[in-house]
Amino acid sequence: MGCCRTGVHCGAGPRRNQLRRCWGGGGSLVLLLLLVAVAVPARGQRSDGVVIAQADLQGLQAIRQALVDPRGFLAGWNGTGLDACSGGWTGIKCARGKVVAIQLPFKGLAGALSDKVGQLAALRRLSFHDNIIGGQVPAALGFLRELRGVYLHNNRFAGAVPPALGACALLQTLDLSGNSLSGSIPSALANATRLYRVNLAYNNLSGVVPASLTSLPFLESLQLNNNNLSGVIPLTVGSLRLLHDLSLASNLIGGSIPDGIGNATKLRNLDLSDNLLGGSLPESLCNLTLLVELDLDGNDIGGHIPACFDGFRNLTKLSMRRNVLDGEIPATVGNLSALSLFDVSENNLTGEIPTSLSGLVNLGSFNVSYNNLSGPVPAALSNKFNSSSFVGNLQLCGFNGSAICTSVSSPLVAPSPPLPLSERRTRKLNKKELIFAVAGILLLFFLLFCCVFIFWRKDKKESSPPKKGAKDVTTKTVGKAGTGTGKGTDTGGDGGGKLVHFDGPLSFTADDLLCATAEILGKSTYGTVYKATMEDGSYVAVKRLREKIAKSQKEFEPEVNALGKLRHPNLLALRAYYLGPKGEKLLVFDYMPKGNLASFLHARAPDSSPVDWPTRMNIAMGLARGLHHLHTDANMVHGNITSNNILLDEGNDAKIADCGLSRLMSAAANSSVIAAAGALGYRAPELSKLKKANTKTDIYSLGVVMLELLTGKSPGDTTNGLDLPQWVASVVEEEWTNEVFDLELMKDAAAGSDTGEELVKTLKLALHCVDPSPPARPEAQQVLRQLEQIKPSIAVSAASSFAGEPSHTTATATSVTDETKSTVTE
Ligand SMILES: *[C@@H]1O[C@H](CO)[C@@H](O)[C@H](O)[C@H]1NC(C)=O
Ligand SMILES: *[C@@H]1O[C@H](CO)[C@@H](O)[C@H](O)[C@H]1NC(C)=O
Ligand SMILES: *[C@@H]1O[C@H](CO)[C@@H](O)[C@H](O)[C@H]1NC(C)=O
Ligand SMILES: *[C@@H]1O[C@H](CO)[C@@H](O)[C@H](O)[C@H]1NC(C)=O
Ligand SMILES: *[C@@H]1O[C@H](CO)[C@@H](O)[C@H](O)[C@H]1NC(C)=O
Ligand SMILES: *[C@@H]1O[C@H](CO)[C@@H](O)[C@H](O)[C@H]1NC(C)=O
Ligand SMILES: *[C@@H]1O[C@H](CO)[C@@H](O)[C@H](O)[C@H]1NC(C)=O
Ligand SMILES: *[C@@H]1O[C@H](CO)[C@@H](O)[C@H](O)[C@H]1NC(C)=O
Ligand SMILES: *[C@@H]1O[C@H](CO)[C@@H](O)[C@H](O)[C@H]1NC(C)=O
Ligand SMILES: *[C@@H]1O[C@H](CO)[C@@H](O)[C@H](O)[C@H]1NC(C)=O
Ligand SMILES: *[C@@H]1O[C@H](CO)[C@@H](O)[C@H](O)[C@H]1NC(C)=O
Ligand SMILES: *[C@@H]1O[C@H](CO)[C@@H](O)[C@H](O)[C@H]1NC(C)=O
Repeated sequence: MGCCRTGVHCGAGPRRNQLRRCWGGGGSLVLLLLLVAVAVPARGQRSDGVVIAQADLQGLQAIRQALVDPRGFLAGWNGTGLDACSGGWTGIKCARGKVVAIQLPFKGLAGALSDKVGQLAALRRLSFHDNIIGGQVPAALGFLRELRGVYLHNNRFAGAVPPALGACALLQTLDLSGNSLSGSIPSALANATRLYRVNLAYNNLSGVVPASLTSLPFLESLQLNNNNLSGVIPLTVGSLRLLHDLSLASNLIGGSIPDGIGNATKLRNLDLSDNLLGGSLPESLCNLTLLVELDLDGNDIGGHIPACFDGFRNLTKLSMRRNVLDGEIPATVGNLSALSLFDVSENNLTGEIPTSLSGLVNLGSFNVSYNNLSGPVPAALSNKFNSSSFVGNLQLCGFNGSAICTSVSSPLVAPSPPLPLSERRTRKLNKKELIFAVAGILLLFFLLFCCVFIFWRKDKKESSPPKKGAKDVTTKTVGKAGTGTGKGTDTGGDGGGKLVHFDGPLSFTADDLLCATAEILGKSTYGTVYKATMEDGSYVAVKRLREKIAKSQKEFEPEVNALGKLRHPNLLALRAYYLGPKGEKLLVFDYMPKGNLASFLHARAPDSSPVDWPTRMNIAMGLARGLHHLHTDANMVHGNITSNNILLDEGNDAKIADCGLSRLMSAAANSSVIAAAGALGYRAPELSKLKKANTKTDIYSLGVVMLELLTGKSPGDTTNGLDLPQWVASVVEEEWTNEVFDLELMKDAAAGSDTGEELVKTLKLALHCVDPSPPARPEAQQVLRQLEQIKPSIAVSAASSFAGEPSHTTATATSVTDETKSTVTE
């Protein structure tokens, strides 16, 4: 920055002309100063031929003497000094024989700065920054009435900031940061009314921030951070109408943020972090609409975050960690579209993380840890940030490593993306606030009611026998959640849910389940699936059903108890379910580490080995077998067979997931599932009118999955506008049969003896399954039998491996009922 920043700040006209003469025009001023700064010899270049004034020469000689120059930069400062002004003396610039600039930054200079600098009466710019000069900042600088810029930062100056600097009427920039200055900031500094940049950061200054500084009419930047300042922020700080940057960070400043700060409307960066500020955030803060960074970390600021924060259109950093803020995170924070950092960790905030924050696309850093937040983390945030952004909120759920969400409000139920800027109206805000307030009051009443109810129930239980569960299920009342086995903590044991176990190796309490760390595996119309890690390190898959679309508890329980009895090696077993006190519904299944067929086929690592024909055939047979059991033995329709719903166990055996789930859901939910299946390419054509799945529509879906196995193509990807069955049919019609098969299989076909024939036969069977006419499609049992005929070797090996399974098809169906052991936790 040149010493003459703008005409306004630059003294009288004649002086500017003088500058122009000595430096060849105002426009090149900055450039020339830089040339001086890097000590390019300018000998003779711009010499005005005037011999240096005697006072200035003496001044320079005294300065030279007081400095220590280990690297020899000042070696040329010798002799008569006649050439001092003509480029002979490094870092000196003159005008009419008077020194106007000393520029010697980064020179390794030590020693001290001589008081004789006060003799350089025309000096405008004094720059010795980034050296190791000690001693005092000379008070004689106060004699320099032309001084515009003092750059002595990053040295070892000690002692006080000379009050005499206030006499430098034209001083614009004062940078003494990074020294060891102590004492207080002289209020007389404010006599230098042209100051626009003051940096006294990183010293050992104490005392108060002089209120006089707030009278500096041109002040744009005030950096007083990392000192030992105390007192309060001057109440008149708002008078700094041009202030862009204010940092008082890392001091001992107390009191509260004055309301007047809202008048400093040009503020862009406000850093008050690490002080002793208390009180609450003034509403007027919201007047600072140009703010880019707001840092209030490490104070004692309490109260609420004002809801008007949405005015900060350009705010990129909002950091308020380590305070005592309470209340909720206002949903309006979601309007801060430029925000890249949001940190309110270590406060006392309550309520939920507003879903509106999902709309903050620029967010790269997010931290709400160690508060008192509750409810689900919006999916967009839990997908983007790891647990370290959310930990320390006992009732917060739905992020990796947290408890599973069981709260009534789910981010999936009502995801409301923020409105585009153009549609926002402030009038709406008040309405919304009103709704929040009413909802809050209702919630309070609800909680109160719950408390009363629980107490009443507790009283009652002591005098009445345990309640019985479903008919064929032996039940055991084990009291309040978490006390059942003494294993769990009371976290998440939210006052009385109900956990019912079905047959299987799993045993856990409601609290074990609710406190398990969970990772989102996927989401579907019915709900979100988590991989939950139990206390013993084992995994289960937990499906949290979306609220509102599930049937009421009364209709739900008989259906879910029926599903709990389904046991077949090719059907994913439902091991337990949990009904929360607020109506939340969790289903617990075996966890399948290999994931689903869709990713097995379509999203494998490029270097993984191909999926060979026997593996694919085994999957198809497993599917047919599972479906046959479902249709015939359990008398159920699946309704949503897709490769996403087919899981694979360690041995690549298929496990059909989501069996019978449609029975737990409302009709509306089921038709939207059917619609989704349509989009994925698995839906039988008649379902576009029929709206209700049956065994024949399941067979159609099975046919599509078989085609998927044969072609390696995802049914969602249309080819020439044809869906997968149509495309296969069109190719086969033109007798290019081999073209349809997955290239990986063609290698098998080339090598193996019968593979080619098996592929064609299976293809015919699959096309039979996707016949547009439902009656023409085979039953699951026929599909199974034909597959077994096509490849008997697999049929045999598969059957023998099933024999080892403890619970196998109808043979064990009755024993399942007998052995079903249930625990009802209330
Ligand atoms: C001044 O310094 C220059 C360069 O270091 C050197 O050549 C010259 O001899 C010195 N003159 C005197 C009088 O010391
Ligand atoms: C600052 O100005 C006031 C009056 O305007 C004067 O009394 C005081 O002496 C001045 N201080 C300095 C250090 O110039
Ligand atoms: C602040 O002052 C205290 C005591 O007065 C001192 O111990 C501490 O080192 C000072 N802090 C800084 C950053 O100079
Ligand atoms: C800071 O100043 C205080 C006195 O004001 C002194 O006690 C302390 O040692 C100083 N600290 C440093 C790091 O200079
Ligand atoms: C803020 O400025 C307005 C005028 O623009 C003035 O009336 C008000 O007193 C100022 N507030 C403070 C606290 O300085
Ligand atoms: C600043 O905020 C206060 C209250 O928060 C308001 O009354 C005032 O009108 C605002 N001033 C400006 C200039 O916006
Ligand atoms: C705010 O940001 C917008 C877009 O980044 C920019 O055009 C505008 O100049 C900024 N406003 C201010 C006052 O910095
Ligand atoms: C947090 O808020 C609760 C009440 O909501 C209060 O009891 C507690 O003291 C607060 N904690 C802090 C550190 O302010
Ligand atoms: C969390 O908030 C609840 C009320 O919402 C309060 O009762 C509880 O004390 C708070 N906990 C902490 C640790 O502040
Ligand atoms: C979370 O992410 C941050 C970077 O955003 C990383 O530094 C940290 O190690 C991660 N923590 C965990 C537990 O993964
Ligand atoms: C969030 O804040 C906590 C506490 O301040 C800290 O331990 C954690 O590392 C932070 N996480 C991230 C991602 O910044
Ligand atoms: C801010 O966001 C809220 C919802 O989060 C919205 O209702 C409101 O209209 C937005 N306000 C402005 C000024 O954009």
